[in-house]
Amino acid sequence: MSEITITIDGQEIQTQEGELILNAARANDIFIPAICYLTRCSPTLACRICLVEADGKQVYACNAKSKDGMSITTSTENIELEKRAIMEVYDVNHPLQCGVCDQSGECELQNYTLEIGVDSQSYAIKDVDRSTEHWGLLNYDPGLCIMCERCTTVCKDMIGDSALSTRKRGADDISAELKESMPKDAYSMWNKLNKSLIEPNAGDHLDCTDCGECSAVCPVGALVSANFQYTSNAWELKQVPATCTHCSAGCQINYEVKHDSIENTQEKIYRVTNEWNYVSLCGAGRYGYDFENRVEAKDEAAFANAVAALEKADTITFDSQITNEEALILQKLKEAKGYKLINDEARTFASFMKDYSEISGTTTYKTPLKEVNKANFVISVGSAIKTDNPNARFAMNNAMIMNKGAAMYFHPVADPVVDAMGKNIMAINHAPMQEEAVMYLILDLFAKKDALPADLSEYLASFHSTKTITVTETVKEKVVEIVKEMKVNEETGEEEEIEVEKSKMVPKKVDKEVEVDDNRLLEIVNVPKKFDETMEKMLKKKDTFALMVGADFYSHPNAKNLARLVALVEKYTDFSVTMIPEKSNTLGVAMICDLDVEAGSSVVGYNVKADFTLSAKGEGDLDMPAMNQQEGTLTSIQLRVNPTNAALAYKGYELNDLANALGLKAELTVDYTEMLGAIDGFESAKFDDLPNHYTNSGEEKRGYELSITEVTASDDESVVAFDENAALSGALVYAANPTLQFNDFTKDTKQLQATAGVFVSEAYATAHELAEGDKVVVEAANATLETTLSIDSKMGGEMPFVASFDSNLNSGALFDGYRFASATLKKV
Ligand code: SF4
Ligand code: SF4
Ligand code: FES
Repeated sequence: MSEITITIDGQEIQTQEGELILNAARANDIFIPAICYLTRCSPTLACRICLVEADGKQVYACNAKSKDGMSITTSTENIELEKRAIMEVYDVNHPLQCGVCDQSGECELQNYTLEIGVDSQSYAIKDVDRSTEHWGLLNYDPGLCIMCERCTTVCKDMIGDSALSTRKRGADDISAELKESMPKDAYSMWNKLNKSLIEPNAGDHLDCTDCGECSAVCPVGALVSANFQYTSNAWELKQVPATCTHCSAGCQINYEVKHDSIENTQEKIYRVTNEWNYVSLCGAGRYGYDFENRVEAKDEAAFANAVAALEKADTITFDSQITNEEALILQKLKEAKGYKLINDEARTFASFMKDYSEISGTTTYKTPLKEVNKANFVISVGSAIKTDNPNARFAMNNAMIMNKGAAMYFHPVADPVVDAMGKNIMAINHAPMQEEAVMYLILDLFAKKDALPADLSEYLASFHSTKTITVTETVKEKVVEIVKEMKVNEETGEEEEIEVEKSKMVPKKVDKEVEVDDNRLLEIVNVPKKFDETMEKMLKKKDTFALMVGADFYSHPNAKNLARLVALVEKYTDFSVTMIPEKSNTLGVAMICDLDVEAGSSVVGYNVKADFTLSAKGEGDLDMPAMNQQEGTLTSIQLRVNPTNAALAYKGYELNDLANALGLKAELTVDYTEMLGAIDGFESAKFDDLPNHYTNSGEEKRGYELSITEVTASDDESVVAFDENAALSGALVYAANPTLQFNDFTKDTKQLQATAGVFVSEAYATAHELAEGDKVVVEAANATLETTLSIDSKMGGEMPFVASFDSNLNSGALFDGYRFASATLKKV
């Protein structure tokens, strides 16, 4: 796209060739009304209110593309008539319940009705029964629905569930005379609106991954959170800009806070909202917010015990759900006191990035997740993407839909949600321990072979052979027929029958032996039938390639080889590489802390059970603030350092207090934000100077981007051959969480309550005669776990998931680092 100049209402602006007029206007703070359009999704033309005149022709700003020199007018007599009529139509039969409606105060129908000055109504139609429906976490009020279709659009184009569609409203037809007498666009819009309503594809309930994004984008109060409904007016809530702390996506959120009740003035979080034009939340971010650790006063005795425990300890063990500032405090304590720092999950990730850097020449991966949204060919490897990082799934889906893209999903466990993302995604369920084969296959399919190191090229060639196959071809064969004809004999003048030869070409099927390339990697990786044919179709017109790498790789027994293969794919193919950090701040911890392998003999745990436990869950020896009670920064998959703010007060001690007692010196935890500048990639920025918003053009102004640190790449690009016979024996289990669960903090939130244990697909439960809530025992070589079984309708395949979101379950004991393990599952 090239930079062009267009004029809107006489104002010259710069934009990109092909940019939608609406987005060009928004980026330059020019207001064009728009109801149905969602940035990052396809225009649906449901509302028609974004009418403008471009070079003398009336067009829809959300659908028309900018061209160099274009002159746009946002207001003409006809456009004003249309807009007025459109808003009148939207107000037909809209119940006047703004006094109690959730959306009141931030309702686009209210805003545009006022903006356009609708003070009388010209249209009417008999209303039909439109009763409220309850869809689990959401309520739908069809009486308020203006059929903008934002909900169906975001679910299809962004989330990938396509769980909503339109249904018949059952209304009277609009009078035919209106077609002639009323403004044309307003008539068409009304005609469409009057015919339909929204319904879940599953009928009377919503069968989806419960992200709630449809309710976030709803411009009116039609789709709302069932838990929030009728609890507060929007204007009473204080918005606290923050960063979601549940996974590594680091989504922008606002905690919305108000006093609990007249009797209880303590504040609580009423809901979480997001800048849905630029960021999409999963349900954990949206509904899992009430995980604060209420502490009424400083417990001096517990604090003294904690200081004593730290004085005695030689090790601090912690998980990655901490801020960068806390990670820096731990690192500084290590430097001052010689503690060993234990966090195996972040350590394996740091080690994977280090192995990758030896070939890539950069200390971290280089491509933020947002670039995946721009690709048109995406590959995901090593991740149960739906639950590991929902935003990675949204990015893959969005790339397929908006860029006419295609995707490959390599994972041992089938996922029906991924399969349902459309015909342009190929899911390949390879065996665990064959991840290296997947990477070799990607190199084989996409690398510029003559540029590859000779050994690697030869190794890839060793998987190829020619084989003879029989193909059936249709050929044309000449057939000669003798036909009898009547002909006049020239001598006798008599008509007589003669025989004539006639030939024609007829199709005939013949078998033919042909030599074809046989790529054994395809068989090892277990690609589906007609792989070559499907790939040819999927790769047509593709030019922007993105590879996402997940946590199965970081803790893999052959992680080093995999990291080097990832770097080689990046170097010798057109794929950019994004790594999915496993936990909310794995990337930050991996960059800031120097982590150890072996713990010592006396251990203090921060949100990890140990000899002395500091706990933001309130389950340890000294309470700590939960992440919604903390200021600080988190490093996200977007290679960005995002600020988060405290939504709720915390009256107890913090890690910073302990650090000060041990000799460090900082008044506030966020004094460490500026000190992060000493770490490669981070900046010396003051916490209070960090922005946390998006601009009208969608530019992310949240904290700052990490700078990518270059290191000298090694000349040694060698990788080792993989073992084709490597496999785990017998029945297997996988360490992964169900939808919406990530950690100890999502588990107990009011709307996401879940019992940690084993999760299986419906097919698995039927085949093994198991029922929801059964007590089961999982037996692995290292450990046995007695727990509860849950059936997950969003799971596929034959491999149970053992959840890791509840640390009390200690499910990690079943696994030897790698996320797959041989284990049997039996009903107790
Ligand atoms: S909650 Fe999310 S997945 Fe479910 S219908 Fe709404 S947008 Fe779609
Ligand atoms: S429920 Fe909301 S988002 Fe969906 S069509 Fe109705 S008004 Fe639009
Ligand atoms: S915003 Fe353009 S048609 Fe609705």
